[in-house]
Amino acid sequence: MIIAENLVKTYEGAKTPVLKNVSFKVERGEVYTLLGPSGCGKTTSLRSIAGLETPDGGRILLDDRVVFSSRDRINVPPDKRNIGMVFQSYAIWPHMTVAKNVAYPLQGRGLSADEVRKRVSRALETVGLLDLADRPSPNLSGGQQQRVALARAIVAEPSVLLLDEPLSNLDAKLREQMRRDLSALQRQLGHSTIYVTHDQEEALALSHRVALMRDGVIVEEGDPVAMYQHPQHPFTAAFLGAANFVPCVAAGKPAVGDMIEAETPFGRFSGVARQGEDAGAKLFFRPHVARVEPAEGPARVNRGTARIAEYSFLGEVLEIIARKGDAAIRIRTAPGPRLEAGAEIAFSVDPEHSAIFLPKA
Ligand SMILES: Nc1ncnc2c1ncn2[C@@H]1O[C@H](COP(=O)(O)OP(=O)(O)O)[C@@H](O)[C@H]1O
Ligand SMILES: [Mg+2]
Repeated sequence: MIIAENLVKTYEGAKTPVLKNVSFKVERGEVYTLLGPSGCGKTTSLRSIAGLETPDGGRILLDDRVVFSSRDRINVPPDKRNIGMVFQSYAIWPHMTVAKNVAYPLQGRGLSADEVRKRVSRALETVGLLDLADRPSPNLSGGQQQRVALARAIVAEPSVLLLDEPLSNLDAKLREQMRRDLSALQRQLGHSTIYVTHDQEEALALSHRVALMRDGVIVEEGDPVAMYQHPQHPFTAAFLGAANFVPCVAAGKPAVGDMIEAETPFGRFSGVARQGEDAGAKLFFRPHVARVEPAEGPARVNRGTARIAEYSFLGEVLEIIARKGDAAIRIRTAPGPRLEAGAEIAFSVDPEHSAIFLPKA
């Protein structure tokens, strides 16, 4: 279990803090992902958990042990925190063999040579590299280096695994393979894991829970499906996948959490009211939840009309840009009857899969 409480950090010479009260809890065996754009404070959070960075304030617990507390002046050094870590750069030593690299964290622990050999073999077997134990490290592919780094992270049997963008240096195909392997490995080993990435697909695919960060703050936290389908925050809606934000005017005196209606250029739509951060209200829905319907038919709530401005056949899906006045939306739908640019269409959006972000209070 990992607990971070109210972590704050300002780097020397910087004007603004990089961590502004970051708090989260990772359950035993859980993969918890810190997701967010470059510079939002993911690595600083992770390095703070590892003890490689000292926050200005807050508290960190690993398996019920306080390893950092600004108030109680506790700061356990990294090698005493019982963690395994993989960096984006892998940090493999080129002058050592694979086995020597993996054995490194076991040094100075008073283990017999035989025990070290056994543990290294076990770690290499786990990541599927046992055959390469005696190979010099420079003769390894990117994917193999990544596995060496992973074997080194788990060889001392840490209770906590910290992974900082471990796949971002691999090409797309290998990245997908490693993503699946990592998932399987984590399930097998059961570490409490913090995974850091700026890639939303990776986060959605790998995590039990995701924390989306922006400017040193966790904006929203939740399980991947809920965050993708029902984002509570407009930044989550925008960051986790393709999104439509249609300017609208909410009816009545809307309160956050209520099912409300709003007038858009395309028609009237209903959705759950959420707190937004723009001057005006926005109807949100993802491009694939809109259903294209014949243009004729009676007007009703959750059904809009528009004109097709662009129409692209992408094989598995059709992508339509539809407009009305200045407003535009993107729709992704299964290929169906031929549509033409310029044609009038109607589309419907299930209110369960939309939200209305209210103006900034
Ligand atoms: N050692 C450091 N000294 C000063 N500024 C730093 C240092 N490390 C990171 N920063 C700055 O802190 C911010 C957050 O960095 P980081 O935690 O690495 O973000 P992320 O991992 O989300 O990209 C960035 O603006 C970065 O430039
Ligand atoms: Mg980083």
